[in-house]
Amino acid sequence: MIEKYVNAEELRRLLSTLVVLLAALAIGGLFAIIVVPGLRNANRPNFPTPMDAIVSEPGWLDPTEFPPERGRVIPAVDPKTLIESSPKLVARGKELFEADCVQCHGTRGEGNGPGATTMNPRPRNFTRPDNWKNGYDLAAIYRTLNVGVPDTSMTSFSYLSRDSRMALAHFVQSLGAFPHGTGIPGAMEALSKELARPGEKTSNKIPVSMAMAKVEQEFTAARPLAVAIDDRRPGAEVLRRIVKDPGRASQVLAGSKKWHEGPVQLAASILPGVPGNGFSVSAATLSDEEWKQLHAELLGLAGR
Ligand code: HEC
Repeated sequence: MIEKYVNAEELRRLLSTLVVLLAALAIGGLFAIIVVPGLRNANRPNFPTPMDAIVSEPGWLDPTEFPPERGRVIPAVDPKTLIESSPKLVARGKELFEADCVQCHGTRGEGNGPGATTMNPRPRNFTRPDNWKNGYDLAAIYRTLNVGVPDTSMTSFSYLSRDSRMALAHFVQSLGAFPHGTGIPGAMEALSKELARPGEKTSNKIPVSMAMAKVEQEFTAARPLAVAIDDRRPGAEVLRRIVKDPGRASQVLAGSKKWHEGPVQLAASILPGVPGNGFSVSAATLSDEEWKQLHAELLGLAGR
């Protein structure tokens, strides 16, 4: 009936336009699926081994970089809500698994994550019931997450809250289509009791990159105690006299929280350590007036 409105020639043109449009859509779709994700990763450097790649990336323990979180007290929960599997628990477990476990265990839990290649023993394959050391019932997996497997790359994840660990255990079980059982007699009761304990406190969490920055900051050596040649203040004079090793001396002051408070506190930070702390024994002969001058000078230098 479409012939009523268009003649054969027009119909052919219409159809060929349609074919061109569809082809364009298909090419666009392929581009979006195949090329765009590649482009997104194009700027990443090529690392020699997958493990190196993981370790070198900031926040490699936690690629999603959770935001900082204050420790809090988690109210007691009904253990049943954590022991019976639910889609919500499994979904939460998947999220955690993708952040903390896939590097080693692989996205499907087959024990073949990028970090697994160099590992001995290899990470457990969760899709099969073979070779589990602690066991695969809920209580056993929960225990593994608490204490890890000693002397292997499987470390403890006890910093995760109890409900997070239970969510992970449920997700791990969901990866293997075999009966997981209830473990040794009494295991479930013990788990129930453990989960019902009130007042669990979680620790403060900061993203790995932030922790790295902090560590770096703490380990950066303090600037050596340098006095400018043209500094003619009396304190500068005293400082030149008593500093033997500018690097060490500045480290000592950086490590003392009290010296800022006054000349007496300054003397107390320096005198017990001479001469090993970079200050000369002649510091013991300084007058009260000289300590005052020294203190003023150091405050001036610290404020630079
Ligand atoms: C750095 C690598 C690594 C990471 C990260 C890691 N695992 Fe493992 N995991 C291992 C290795 C290796 C083993 C095997 C240890 C063995 O055979 O003794 C293992 C074993 C296990 C087991 C089996 C224990 C048993 O009874 O044999 C469970 C369950 C498990 N991991 C869960 C997890 C979960 C959940 C996470 C994330 C929260 C995780 N793992 C993160 C390396 C890792």
